Amino acid sequence: MSEKGLFITFEGADGCGKTTQINLLKDYLEKSGYEVILTREPGAKGLGEKVREILLNYDGVVSDRCESFLFLADRAQNIDIIVKPAVASGKIVLCDRHIDSTVAYQGYGRGLDIERIKMLNNLATDGKKPDLTIVFDIDVATSMERVGKDKDRMENAGIDFHNRVRNGYLEIAKEEPERIKVINSVKSIDEVFEDLKKIVKKYLPS
Ligand code: TYD
Repeated sequence: MSEKGLFITFEGADGCGKTTQINLLKDYLEKSGYEVILTREPGAKGLGEKVREILLNYDGVVSDRCESFLFLADRAQNIDIIVKPAVASGKIVLCDRHIDSTVAYQGYGRGLDIERIKMLNNLATDGKKPDLTIVFDIDVATSMERVGKDKDRMENAGIDFHNRVRNGYLEIAKEEPERIKVINSVKSIDEVFEDLKKIVKKYLPS
């Protein structure tokens, strides 16, 4: 393991299958001898879990700006307490959602100013960017079918909202092709995982 680890983030619509893929990748990397840390946003271990509870289950009014700041607060905690120390000690950090979720959901989805969100993301992460980001792309009809009837506050935001989110991800990927790779996720779990491994292998520290 090299002195500096790797920071990989996973993005995509609700129901795109990224959590399954992250777990498969964790097992694969560990079997290959890497030390792996799993984290997620919202809901980094500890305080982040409390923030997640509000973001997904609070049933009162939440303003779009307030929602953004809650995601950003959780992000700052995740970066400072979990991601940075792990990467500095040579581990591979796999993070389920990160900066691009805020651009896609609060920016493209809710319609908040995208440049401002990028600036706020930068503050929340103290400038630390993922080495690699995977976007699992899926059409909205399939993703909503996978999510099913039991939807949380974000999943309930409507078809138009989720179409904007999807298009947002594809836009962001075009802007940063070096960092962001898109995988078609309307395929079998095994096929998606093969695509994922091919990409990740190119970034692994030797
Ligand atoms: P979660 O249950 O973690 O969804 P998934 O399993 O699909 O990742 O819920 C996180 C929800 O929060 C999801 O709908 C995306 C949304 N979200 C934002 O709107 N902005 C953000 O910055 C982040 C991190 C997540």
